[in-house]
Amino acid sequence: MNFKNSFYISTMLILLYNCSSSGDDPTNSNPNNSVKITYDSHIKSITTNYCIACHGEPPSSGAPMSLTSYELMKNAVETRGLINRINSTTNPMPPKGGLLSQEQRNLIQKWVDDGLLEK
Ligand code: HEC
Repeated sequence: MNFKNSFYISTMLILLYNCSSSGDDPTNSNPNNSVKITYDSHIKSITTNYCIACHGEPPSSGAPMSLTSYELMKNAVETRGLINRINSTTNPMPPKGGLLSQEQRNLIQKWVDDGLLEK
């Protein structure tokens, strides 16, 4: 085989490899692909940044419960209307500073849809 041919074949192999491996990257956090949303990987950082100032351990500023663990967060979704509150414009959570971003709310919704996975 001459040099030109082997160069051509290598190029084709690289192209083929790149195309076939571009599908389900498990490190991709885009909620629209097949990656499952979990508390540990996606939800905990949102509650840490936006909720535990009041829903800490212990809760403060009049918040009725803490949201510091997987179980507490799951419980709030199932029994305290958490999804309604993060999407509410009249009675929102967090109560000040505007709603979570659309992307963050989508992540929490997909977490629920995926079955409230911990890890
Ligand atoms: C500035 C303080 C503060 C922050 C930050 C905050 N909350 Fe709250 N939260 C409260 C207070 C006070 C209440 C109780 C009064 C009410 O229901 O509006 C409450 C109530 C709730 C309730 C209803 C509980 C029930 O049993 O009725 C949910 C659900 C909730 N918060 C979720 C969240 C989530 C999720 C975040 C973060 C995205 C968050 N909150 C951030 C202060 C806060």
